[in-house]
Amino acid sequence: MSLSSQLRSESLAKTLELGSALGILLQPSDVVLLSGDLGAGKTHFTKGIVKGMGIKNEVTSPTFNILVQYEDSEGTLALNHFDLYRLEAEEELDDIDYFGHLEEDAVQVVEWGDKFAGALPEDYLNIDFVVIDEQERILRIDAHGPRSSVLLKEWLGETTR
Ligand SMILES: Nc1ncnc2c1ncn2[C@@H]1O[C@H](COP(=O)(O)OP(=O)(O)OP(=O)(O)O)[C@@H](O)[C@H]1O
Ligand SMILES: [Mg+2]
Repeated sequence: MSLSSQLRSESLAKTLELGSALGILLQPSDVVLLSGDLGAGKTHFTKGIVKGMGIKNEVTSPTFNILVQYEDSEGTLALNHFDLYRLEAEEELDDIDYFGHLEEDAVQVVEWGDKFAGALPEDYLNIDFVVIDEQERILRIDAHGPRSSVLLKEWLGETTR
């Protein structure tokens, strides 16, 4: 089962808004993979997700950390934010216990999450960011699996109203 759609962002503010609208809908164990060009807006979109989830922590780019974890106000793990950009081989995923973390009861957001074909999760929303010009981005969205298809329909319902 695979469902596709496309959204347009004409500004950074719009990207934050789209992320926030998705963040409101996300439940623990949902997986969102973010792919596309360098500097396309994946980290800022994640910042929107964090806002939508009601987490107060600041997002810093996890490029040098690979994984940044966010807790909710009760101190419970709420979001794992990965950035696989700096990993060179699929085996390195084991060094960071990628699959162990994916099983944690938290929302999972993975920048460059489509990098290793053998490491794709079972059910995930993939958002491919395409840079059109300085301000404009196209988000190409594919839902892989039943849960992410429901999520995509809900998200589109929120954003196209
Ligand atoms: N419509 C837009 N949506 C998102 N970012 C935009 C938009 N227009 C301009 N920008 C700018 O593009 C940059 C996006 O940076 P960001 O770190 O979010 O990209 P990224 O995809 O995470 O990059 P990387 O692959 O290096 O992690 C920011 O400087 C932001 O201000
Ligand atoms: Mg980034």
